[in-house]
Amino acid sequence: MKLQVFENYEQVSKHAAQILIEACRRQPQLVLGLATGSTPIGMYQEMIAAYQQGKVDFSRVTTFNLDEYYPIAPEHPQSFRRFMQEQLFDHVNINPEGIHFLCGTVQDIEQECRRYEEAIEAAGGIDIQVLGIGENGHIGFNEPGTPFHLGTHKVKLTETTIQANSRFFERMEDVPRFALTMGIRTIMHSRKLLLLANGEKKAAAIRAALNGPVTEDLPASVLQLHPDVTVIVDKAAAHLLEEVPDVL
Ligand code: GLP
Repeated sequence: MKLQVFENYEQVSKHAAQILIEACRRQPQLVLGLATGSTPIGMYQEMIAAYQQGKVDFSRVTTFNLDEYYPIAPEHPQSFRRFMQEQLFDHVNINPEGIHFLCGTVQDIEQECRRYEEAIEAAGGIDIQVLGIGENGHIGFNEPGTPFHLGTHKVKLTETTIQANSRFFERMEDVPRFALTMGIRTIMHSRKLLLLANGEKKAAAIRAALNGPVTEDLPASVLQLHPDVTVIVDKAAAHLLEEVPDVL
């Protein structure tokens, strides 16, 4: 596991974007796994800036997002689909046909999860999966206690996650109680993982994920078992780690 600590969020975002941009230059048909949440927003802004400056061409990139609320319509202002349109897709030249999402309105959930797994496989698997981390150590929407062997599946969100997500909704009762998410198995199949975190609020989860035991109680701890993980954090998110490397 490679750990890189930066001074602040801006540096984290720039560095993460640089990794994706360089990968895309080397391999224009890159398959990217993307995440929502506030953490990757800065990285998306850097990707947009690079695209606008003509430094990168995303036209042949394929994307798969980690998760989506359930139930929620794709066009709902708070859907992850909409979030990605607004934060990235509307501003770069990723081919809309290369964009893949779990659908939050399907009736047959099992079939939808199977469809997603098959689409990832048909694309040749995910080259780089970007991850944020929840304060309780969740990745995607894999909450504590999720068995590591699960592929894409439906989850019941925990109270803490519902609370954390409520800042994006007008009323508490509007926050979806369920989600569809890539499973830990799906995430672990990606060739490379990039975990981003910033701020004091994530410090305990980062410590548990990196220094604690590998346990389903702290989903992100599974990353210790992946052969190619880069953890990119700011000083605040790193400060509880047993060993904090020099700031880059
Ligand atoms: C949500 C998303 C995760 C994300 C997490 C942290 O639950 N499903 O993919 O990593 O929130 O969000 P934030 O980056 O806003 O702290």
